[in-house]
Amino acid sequence: MSIRAATPAAIAAAATHLRAGGLVAFPTETVYGLGAAATDAAAVAAIFAVKQRPAFDPLIVHVDSLARAERVVRRLAGAARHLAERYWPGPLTLVLPKAADIPDLVTAGLPTVGVRLPAHAVARALIAAADLPIAAPSANPFGYVSPTTAAHVAAQLGDAVPLILDGGACAIGLESTIVAFDGDRPTLLRSGAITLEALEAELGPLRLATDIPLPTAPGQLPRHYAPRTPLVLIDTPAEVAPARRAGTALLACGALDDVSGFAQVEQLAADGDLVVAATRLFAALRALDAGGFRRVWALRVPERGIGRAIMDRLRRASQ
Ligand code: TXA
Ligand code: MG
Repeated sequence: MSIRAATPAAIAAAATHLRAGGLVAFPTETVYGLGAAATDAAAVAAIFAVKQRPAFDPLIVHVDSLARAERVVRRLAGAARHLAERYWPGPLTLVLPKAADIPDLVTAGLPTVGVRLPAHAVARALIAAADLPIAAPSANPFGYVSPTTAAHVAAQLGDAVPLILDGGACAIGLESTIVAFDGDRPTLLRSGAITLEALEAELGPLRLATDIPLPTAPGQLPRHYAPRTPLVLIDTPAEVAPARRAGTALLACGALDDVSGFAQVEQLAADGDLVVAATRLFAALRALDAGGFRRVWALRVPERGIGRAIMDRLRRASQ
């Protein structure tokens, strides 16, 4: 395993490695990805093996331009194109009917593909240098918290990933918002930094994945993004009697009054800034998971804006 600062030389070496069918972990503005050439089914198969990811879970294909996105999907038009032009590069994945040369393994056999043009300069430079669309899930073992630093990737997948490009901590810290355009009305499959409010201002009412009876994205599986320590959602620390605090930790965002007795308090943003809290959430969950606590109590945040995505990840972690 090697972590390399994402210099132009390291990016060029990583691109060569991708073109030869290898795997590279790389930074995006949301979380770190584990990438392979999206057009190379054998390379993509290696992603599933390294992550121990079930083959029914499709991957997102990353591109560096609208033109490359147009070669990944059958057609980028209408409302999907509008969102692409409005939010790319950025933390938005569009699910659209796939182009013929995207292997079925990438999409888990689905006729649709998730495509995203990330904002992170290293991600875009890597895709451009490889001159390929790059299939990349978050660079964590299946079902675990997504990595927001190169060190997180190394800690969990290090032995299996020959090259990790280090581009610093992720600016957003939560996985991309996913919107599907395979039905009559766009569907929000995963909430993220591009908020439901922002999307509905552009498109009118969206269908929510929660309205759909069966999960089509494993990110929708109830237990996902999960740390190992039991996590319980609460509205105020007062819900936890002093006698129950010993050996447990509190995960908070915003002003707190009485927190005596908790073994640790992890404050995501003392002023309650949810965007800042999002950037720190996964690192905090990892740190708390490593702390050996009996339980983590997590304070709910308001479910508006990016708070919806934070609560989505906390709820899944609490299953
Ligand atoms: O921010 C992100 O999206 C990060 C970075 C690396 O770009 N990637 C990421 O990938 O979070 P992953 O594989 O951890 O999550 C992708 C989600 C999965 O829940 C998958 O089921 C869903 O996207 N997905 C991908 N293609 C899909 C499709 N064709 N239809 C429905 N869901 C799809
Ligand atoms: Mg993931």
